[in-house]
Amino acid sequence: MIDENPGVAMELIADLMPVCAGKSFYIHTYGCQMNVRDSETLAGWLVKMGYFPAENPEEADAILFNTCCIREHAEARVIGSVGALRKWRAQKPGRVVGVCGCMMQQPGQAEKLLKKYPFVDFALGPQSIDELPRLMHEALLEGKRGLALRENAPLREDMPRHRARSLTAFVNIMAGCNNFCSYCIVPYVRGRERSRETSAIVEEVASLAAQGVREVTLLGQNVNSYRQGQDDFASLLHKVAAVKDIGRIRFMTSHPKDLSDRVIEAIAGEEKICRHVHLPVQSGSTGVLARMNRRYTREGYLQLVDKLRKGVPGICLTTDFIVGFPGETDADFADSLSLVQQVEFDAAYVFTYSPRQGTRAASMPDQVPPDVAHQRHLALLAAQDEISHRRDQAQIGKTVEVLFEGVDGRTGQYLVGKAGDNRTVHAPGRQEWIGSILPVTIKRAGAHTLHGEIVPS
Ligand code: SAH
Ligand code: SF4
Ligand code: F3S
Repeated sequence: MIDENPGVAMELIADLMPVCAGKSFYIHTYGCQMNVRDSETLAGWLVKMGYFPAENPEEADAILFNTCCIREHAEARVIGSVGALRKWRAQKPGRVVGVCGCMMQQPGQAEKLLKKYPFVDFALGPQSIDELPRLMHEALLEGKRGLALRENAPLREDMPRHRARSLTAFVNIMAGCNNFCSYCIVPYVRGRERSRETSAIVEEVASLAAQGVREVTLLGQNVNSYRQGQDDFASLLHKVAAVKDIGRIRFMTSHPKDLSDRVIEAIAGEEKICRHVHLPVQSGSTGVLARMNRRYTREGYLQLVDKLRKGVPGICLTTDFIVGFPGETDADFADSLSLVQQVEFDAAYVFTYSPRQGTRAASMPDQVPPDVAHQRHLALLAAQDEISHRRDQAQIGKTVEVLFEGVDGRTGQYLVGKAGDNRTVHAPGRQEWIGSILPVTIKRAGAHTLHGEIVPS
């Protein structure tokens, strides 16, 4: 196995180079930022084999799907798109189709997919990304169809990465999750929580900064439980903030039960850390939270919000909700609505509960009828929309720091960037300011965009 011997991967790649050189690949990525980051590693391996990125999937020689199974909707889309490749795969010899990601790691899914679609060459789980060279070797040189579905594989620091040139980048700080929220599939498909070495993370951030990256987002299912030797998440934040050329640091996701005072102090004290916390609440009802196994109460969450707002004045708070969790009553849902009103989040994602096979919630009694869940979804979104609009309007007159990332594609007339709170900001300015973090006074708030003027220096 290449895990114990990285040299084997290089031998496989050497064999593959003559057949792959000059060919192109395309990766369809679904799901969360973790998958975006994993796709960069998959791409890194393919580039090592000699592939180059294709502009669109039709002209590619290898197509990979990096899948997600967090909700049923995500899965249905993938199955359809893979099925549509039957003809494409047969049209030209040497073509490859691989299906990777979380969906493949569910019991029986990979086998089912390979059986349903005989033209799919391999299935690869999210903890086996280092097995891509072996599977490509088998597909292209041995005429074999393969599977790689390891669990809890040790983290590897020596995998390649290919990323589009960009001023922002994702950095994994950990893998897996130990929380087992009762609705969630992630701990089953991503394995137990493992934190990367602090030094490896800091080196990666420094190397990204040297390549021109201005902003990094530290990724983990629950960044607040990061632990490596003496380091917890707060000390990691300080170490990353000390990397000289990095301008900004974001992180996600924060589990409310683990967000410590030390992390709040780090956000308040380190200028580079964006004053934004994505703090999924899931429900405003203590009873539902208990059945979700979230391990905090409504009151505990509200206290944490209070502490964050006192400790970091002006902090931006965003959240996730699930509506229609098994047993959610009208009164439980009213608690979610009132929490939205009470906290006044800057933005909230609302998801309709989707039963995931193998999770505890999937077999709970009193599953909520889809039409009821749908009505709740709409009502919660409407309540939040009004608040988001009000909070966007409240930005007018403020001066915020904006990292300019490009020019507005539609009009070509404005620079486009992100404020520290993740709001999108447009402002007239010069092309050479792209990549700079500049103060902008907000003049107007549109639907999803703020418009401002750069403060002359
Ligand atoms: N680790 C992160 C979230 C990962 S999943 C955290 O704990 O916050 C992202 C979001 O998807 C979750 O916050 C939750 O709101 C939603 N989600 C997860 N499982 C779901 C399910 N079975 N049905 C509907 N939404 C779900
Ligand atoms: Fe899923 Fe909960 Fe882990 Fe987030 S913390 S990934 S919601 S089990
Ligand atoms: Fe992410 Fe979906 Fe997997 S949300 S961790 S890609 S199940």
